[in-house]
Amino acid sequence: MEGEPVNVNEFQELARQALPKIYYDYYSGGAEDEYTLKQNVEAFQGITIRPRILVDISRIDLSTTVLGYKISAPILIAPSAKHKWAHPEGEVATARAAAACDTIMILSYRSTCTIEEVASSCNAVRFFQCYVYKRRDISANLVQRAERCGYKAIVLTVDSPRLGRREKDIKNKMVNPQLKNFEGLVSTQVSTDDGSNIEAFDANTAFDASLSWKDIGWLRSITNLPVLLKGVLTHEDAIKAVEVGVDGIVVSNHGARQLDYVPPSISVLEEVVDAVKGKVPVLFDGGIRRGTDVFKALALGAQAVLIGRPAVYGLAAKGEYGVKSVIEMLRDELELTMALSGCPTLNHISRKHVRTKHERPR
Ligand code: FNR
Repeated sequence: MEGEPVNVNEFQELARQALPKIYYDYYSGGAEDEYTLKQNVEAFQGITIRPRILVDISRIDLSTTVLGYKISAPILIAPSAKHKWAHPEGEVATARAAAACDTIMILSYRSTCTIEEVASSCNAVRFFQCYVYKRRDISANLVQRAERCGYKAIVLTVDSPRLGRREKDIKNKMVNPQLKNFEGLVSTQVSTDDGSNIEAFDANTAFDASLSWKDIGWLRSITNLPVLLKGVLTHEDAIKAVEVGVDGIVVSNHGARQLDYVPPSISVLEEVVDAVKGKVPVLFDGGIRRGTDVFKALALGAQAVLIGRPAVYGLAAKGEYGVKSVIEMLRDELELTMALSGCPTLNHISRKHVRTKHERPR
């Protein structure tokens, strides 16, 4: 590719060129047939924008708040694992880029830099993502360390009672790196006795498969931080989430890496937003590659969106600068979309600004 990348897809191509196949496959792949993976992106194409004309757009304001924290634009970094596979500086580079863009990074429990390293790398608002393990003491340790280090919310991912089947990783015989955040807590040594490279404690098999709604209370009892649930795809679960008192919801299908043939997440956003009735903020992720995608998600009721792969592609292609460029690119595209559709602020973006397939104008 000649010259600087001009969009997220070009960053993906740069990442593909920069990374060993096994790592690129890990980042870009999805579960089984990758049907939902493709749909996550394509579903945005079935939504068109209804621009309004002759609106004063001489000043455009993209700033907003999430859980009371001001950010420059409604684009956060989704939790994703193993950033050192993309770049030697790992999550520290991602965190610095998020800080430079005045936005929030959600750190994955499976980061390759520790909770503490990321916290001390820059001054910014950060959230921490975790699962609940059979060994509750380990979950409590991670959550409480994040709280002590100044992370501002816990994002509990609830779409992974077991790991989805990612066939590219199976074919590539991918081996997980040691769990940095778990050092000293459990044995994280990679065993090679039988050549299988299975970790002594593998966070994936250690997930508590019996986790259910009553356990959200347990998480709340061990932290004062707000708790967001990530992985809600139905109105039934959105209503339950509000009933059990979560502080926010992330509509997400885990970037299509868990259950294949779930709907593209943009197609269920409105269902969740309608069920929640404004009681808690609804965030969104899955398939955001353009500023127009961000606009569409906001029009369908999301307060902000998270980006997963785009940030990792930026990191793989150009380190911290690449992540910053990706966020800025999406921010600039969103700004232009707002200008061309007559929305000087995020509050102006309404349901009437988009039309989904088979829908008449409202
Ligand atoms: C993820 N995602 C994820 N989610 C989570 O809650 N904990 C995690 O550790 C990870 N790890 C992870 C690794 C990689 C390589 C990817 C691509 C994704 C899911 C992530 O938070 C988010 O839901 C999706 O990535 C959003 O979709 P897009 O933006 O990648 O299309």
